[in-house]
Amino acid sequence: MQYSRLTKAITQSKADCVVIPVIDEKKLTNHGQVIDKATNRAIHQALSQGYFKGERKTLLLLQTPGIQAQSILLCHFGDLKEIDDASYATTLQQVFKELTTLNVESAIVALDDLPINRDQNWQAQQIFQALAHSSYCFKQHKSNPKLATLKKCLFVDSISNSQLRHGKALLNAMHLAKDLGNSPGNICTPQYLATQASKLAGKYPNLKATIYSEAQMRKMGMNSLLSVASGSTVPAKLIVLEYRGTKQQKSSPIALVGKGVTFDSGGISLKPGAAMDEMKYDMMGAASVLATLQAVAELKLPIHLVVVIPATENMPSGQATKPGDIVQSMSGQTIEILNTDAEGRLILCDALTFVQKQYKPKCIIDVATLTGAILVSLGKLLTGAFTNNDSLISQLKAAAENSNDKIWQMPMLDIYQSALKSNFADMANIGDRYAGSITAACFLARFIENDTPWIHLDIAGTAWNSGDAKGATGRPVPLLLEFLKNYSN
Ligand code: BES
Ligand code: MN
Ligand code: ZN
Repeated sequence: MQYSRLTKAITQSKADCVVIPVIDEKKLTNHGQVIDKATNRAIHQALSQGYFKGERKTLLLLQTPGIQAQSILLCHFGDLKEIDDASYATTLQQVFKELTTLNVESAIVALDDLPINRDQNWQAQQIFQALAHSSYCFKQHKSNPKLATLKKCLFVDSISNSQLRHGKALLNAMHLAKDLGNSPGNICTPQYLATQASKLAGKYPNLKATIYSEAQMRKMGMNSLLSVASGSTVPAKLIVLEYRGTKQQKSSPIALVGKGVTFDSGGISLKPGAAMDEMKYDMMGAASVLATLQAVAELKLPIHLVVVIPATENMPSGQATKPGDIVQSMSGQTIEILNTDAEGRLILCDALTFVQKQYKPKCIIDVATLTGAILVSLGKLLTGAFTNNDSLISQLKAAAENSNDKIWQMPMLDIYQSALKSNFADMANIGDRYAGSITAACFLARFIENDTPWIHLDIAGTAWNSGDAKGATGRPVPLLLEFLKNYSN
């Protein structure tokens, strides 16, 4: 796919199709008006027929003289006062899908100047996110994959070169996250993730990858992480990437930690069979932090960033951890593992201790498909966010608005800590039946030292879609990248 800016006027540019938005019954944007004028009011005439009075969302006008594009696709975004973030984004996705249905190979896209209450920059970013979905196909294992027809996307001059560069980096990162997530567990193993990380580091001189083996992790005392790996025949890896986009030698980095369970069977606390295949997505935290790092490096953001990925399978076997087993984490705290399916927190706690000891980060964001309970609380639209720091979370909330990759802050009060009480160790790895996402966050909070500003993102609801549309969403890459871009300013 090629993305570029028009070098000529919109009326003089060749393409299969020029895409123009319509709002209210027949209101046009500036670009729409230019096309309308050049085509002797062809759009105006079509709209006068009242085509958009019903449910119709798109209308194709063919072979209009006066412009170089072969056709005009009119796209109805609804009544201005009813256009919100979600409807703008879904209409964009419908439009790009329609282009594929129409077998369009090259399109001029003039959809970033709608008079809605979001600025052009916001709209431009949404266009790239919609393209990231419509242009994506996980084709690696299909003999005859159904590819998107669109090959060339031409943007009008409202999109700057910098927006184009950022948009492409975001789109590429979302594709990487989707590819890693959709890859099955027999391919996307801890070693595979480590190889992807090393390959990424090979591309950028200021990016360094270090892969720790199980033996090295044992030396560092990461017994909680290793207890999850013990049932698997493939070895766990601790993947660490350090990106230095600034000249400063002694800066403390921002840390991203991503849960990398490449398949979560539940272990001895085996999961029920239905939809267990979807537990290949239990490494979407890892995929999203790795993908975000790729965009950061591609955009050369002036930040110091560390990415840590504890990667392992969670499998049952004769060597697997058993309910009731007690392990000592790298922090020194002991954990009674009452349920081997609450494994995400067991690998994250050692990764959190590791990153704090090794890098003294100025803030930490961990990203994890941590609990089914977050689906009960928030469904599949919002990522759950937990924090010990109001100022950090307000920055992330702003990034969620600006990227339209939305979060919702959940409570993480100490009164929930008592649910993790164990009769035999410092804590249990599960709480009672209730507030499962909060007690999981409370577990992680016990491993944050010296009130380091920290956010835990539970993406179990937002990282992938089930059913007919089964597939990774690429979330929360837009959120994380937006946060880091603002942090670097
Ligand atoms: N990876 C799962 C969380 C999950 C479950 C994500 C379903 C998406 C859909 C996690 O490791 C897990 O199994 N969590 C348990 C925790 C419980 C045992 C306290 C859960 O949510 O059931
Ligand atoms: Mn689990
Ligand atoms: Zn899991």
